[in-house]
Amino acid sequence: MDFTANNLRPLKGMGRKLFVETYGCQMNVGDTEIVVSVMQKEGYFYTENIEEADVILINTCSIRDNAEQRIWGRLGDIKHYRIQNPKLVVGIIGCMAERLKEELLKGPLAVDIVAGPDSYRSLPELIHRAEMKQKGVNVELSLTETYSEIEPVRIDHNGVSAFVSIMRGCNNFCSYCVVPYTRGRERSRDAETIVAEARSLFENGYREVTLLGQNVNSYRCGEVTFPELMRRVAEVSPLLRVRFATSHPKDMSDDLLEVMASMPNICHAIHLPAQSGSTAMLDRMNRRYTREWYLGRIAAIRRIIPDCSITTDLIAGFSGETEEEHLETLSLMREVKYDYAFMFKYSERPGTFAQRNLPDNIPDEVKTRRLQEIIALQNELGLQSNEKDVGKEFEILVEGESRRDKNQLSGRTSQNKVVVIDKGNHRKGDYVKVRITGCTQATLFGEEID
Ligand code: 5AD
Ligand code: SF4
Repeated sequence: MDFTANNLRPLKGMGRKLFVETYGCQMNVGDTEIVVSVMQKEGYFYTENIEEADVILINTCSIRDNAEQRIWGRLGDIKHYRIQNPKLVVGIIGCMAERLKEELLKGPLAVDIVAGPDSYRSLPELIHRAEMKQKGVNVELSLTETYSEIEPVRIDHNGVSAFVSIMRGCNNFCSYCVVPYTRGRERSRDAETIVAEARSLFENGYREVTLLGQNVNSYRCGEVTFPELMRRVAEVSPLLRVRFATSHPKDMSDDLLEVMASMPNICHAIHLPAQSGSTAMLDRMNRRYTREWYLGRIAAIRRIIPDCSITTDLIAGFSGETEEEHLETLSLMREVKYDYAFMFKYSERPGTFAQRNLPDNIPDEVKTRRLQEIIALQNELGLQSNEKDVGKEFEILVEGESRRDKNQLSGRTSQNKVVVIDKGNHRKGDYVKVRITGCTQATLFGEEID
């Protein structure tokens, strides 16, 4: 085995085994693929078996306190691998590394490496330092790093759909959110490398790409805006589906909606986080739009792409939330009729504007009750949305066997809903025309049509 690049430079990995565990958002899934790519170039082998790892990296999330608590718990579990393998190197990477820095190097759960989201190129060096019994820390945020030319190594893949990161960071500073502090300033990746990555995925059998960023609508690379980027990626092949996440309502332009309506392989699904249905609350959240503006954007989506699915994020119990404001969130949900929602209880994050200026003053029982009301309503709306699809026809992209029944396949509609069908002669990566015959709140059932 050759552990040198071009036989000139000794590689730090020397065939040792790397295990990575990923928590949090889709951006982290994409980042892990970049990390594996950087490490493989240095001669590390990726393993899915933590027991045999020489290096364990945990890619972490700080968005809510419970996300961080889970990771502390995981560090407790990992302690016993150190007893089995005293040379084991353990690292925390991602948002929690950025937020907690040196704190992670102290105490009974101390790790060897702490690397923030912009320092993944230095991981081999940090690991090398850790092996020399120095702690390896790099939490420098960058104004320019986009890992543009690094080709991600797809590890957690179904071979059909892949994430492509198009920008990093966030400049929005929603008052509750830690992301602008952990992921730094917004920057867009070079458009040509994005299109090249999508093309290479297509050539390798992938049939769907999801373009990822915290706020994709503000993507800009020279003359290339987000609608133009979508058009270029969609032009790679009519057989390549294109999705994107996430949009900020304040930047959601008609231009984008028109591009989506004009190219059949751009999926009809928009994730448009509302966070709250109350204008006063949106102001405290620093969202920079009103309820009316948001509903205006929904009306534009319905007008330009009538069969588009709309999903959202909602937060229950943010600072000062009155019962009326909570009811406005419920009424917004009824008005929009979301197909799906991610729903959260507000969790105060250190260092944010809200933590410094807006008290976390809604009692936990009230937050919990409001969240439950939001979830119960969304369950109803989700079922109604699925029931409306029964009898309709869709083209699905098959992703693999159904989890419940190996004789069935599971795929998605353009609207991103899961449909289960009989296997027939199909396999993953196929497009199949189906009619919906039934549903539950989470799944549509379909039959093939010609
Ligand atoms: N508490 C609860 N939810 C939050 N989110 C972001 N920050 C917080 C927080 N401090 C939610 C928002 C965002 C999603 C990714 O996470 O709804 O859209
Ligand atoms: Fe956080 Fe707001 Fe940026 Fe989303 S847009 S990552 S909620 S600051």
